[in-house]
Amino acid sequence: MSETLILAIESSCDETAAAVLRGQREVLSDVVASQVDLHAEYGGVVPELACRAHVESIDPVVKEALAKAGVTLNDITAIAATQGPGLVGALLVGLSYAKALAWSTGLPLVPVNHLEAHISAAFVEDPAPGDNERPFVGLVVSGGHTSLYLCEERSKYKLLGQTLDDAAGEAFDKVAKIMGLGYPGGVVIDQLAKEGNRESFEFPRPMMKKSRYDFSFSGLKTALRTHVERYPEGLSGEELKDTCASFQEAVVEVLVVKAMRAVKDSGVRDMVVCGGVACNSRLREMMAEACEKRGIKLVIPRPRYCTDNAVMVAAAGLHRFEAGVRGTMDIQAVPTWPLEGLGGE
Ligand code: KG4
Ligand code: ZN
Repeated sequence: MSETLILAIESSCDETAAAVLRGQREVLSDVVASQVDLHAEYGGVVPELACRAHVESIDPVVKEALAKAGVTLNDITAIAATQGPGLVGALLVGLSYAKALAWSTGLPLVPVNHLEAHISAAFVEDPAPGDNERPFVGLVVSGGHTSLYLCEERSKYKLLGQTLDDAAGEAFDKVAKIMGLGYPGGVVIDQLAKEGNRESFEFPRPMMKKSRYDFSFSGLKTALRTHVERYPEGLSGEELKDTCASFQEAVVEVLVVKAMRAVKDSGVRDMVVCGGVACNSRLREMMAEACEKRGIKLVIPRPRYCTDNAVMVAAAGLHRFEAGVRGTMDIQAVPTWPLEGLGGE
């Protein structure tokens, strides 16, 4: 096993995270300071508050990650940090901290793409997708992204399709808000749906026929809003659970059908599903069933590595470090950074 020790930093949205990874999958520490409570009362991430919270947390979080790993900066091989995509002010906190640390220690700095990090979380799992060599289809489903990629090799991504409006996680969060379930809503809907009947209400399966690989969730959100308006007193009890189950089924079905299409069309034998929405129990279940039926090897990282964390940044960082990628002191945060531009540097 490689003795490369990566210290990774993540601050692209509302989690300040740091981790230490030895080789591909030995996680020595994994620290996440979540800002969920801070943003909950606003029903979404407030960028200004997120930046300030990152500034407060970044130093203690990194120190905790080193302490928990039982290492010092002298043991670290390279420092990886998320450069984008994400909220520019939030990204700048982690990236600037990483730059200063790299400068003062002389350690190499490795900039990481957040989407590649989500996909790389799968490589911390054993066995890894494509056993580290074969191509795979990657579905990134998070609060900010819903994108389907053909990953021809680990550094080479071809975008097959993406959402034309809301991301899947955003749809879960907005719909939860409409039903008065608080923020973030994905996990609450997932829980309520477990006791509901997913066939109770018929919600649209958007873009199922219209586009081969693209997604759209805003029409589904409107259908849900119209449905909720039929209950002036608000949804509760069985109706609430049934609504959650039926809504979730519509989202999950579209994700699974399109992912399976991509697998079939490309002829690959491996599939990765990642990002916060990959925590969803019904998505995990349906994707597993669909892949098993077709003899496809599926890797969905454990839930902790699906939502934003720094272990995934370390995994992508290790891969990029070994490919010779280095960041200079003048690199900037990149709020919009498509995976395809990454190439196999
Ligand atoms: O990957 P992530 O932590 O942050 C982004 O990069 O966006 O994803 C957060 C998203 C939120 O929209 C949240 O509601 C959703 O993931 N999420 C879920 C579940 N757990 C988290 N959505 C559906 N079901 C879940 N169990
Ligand atoms: Zn993310």
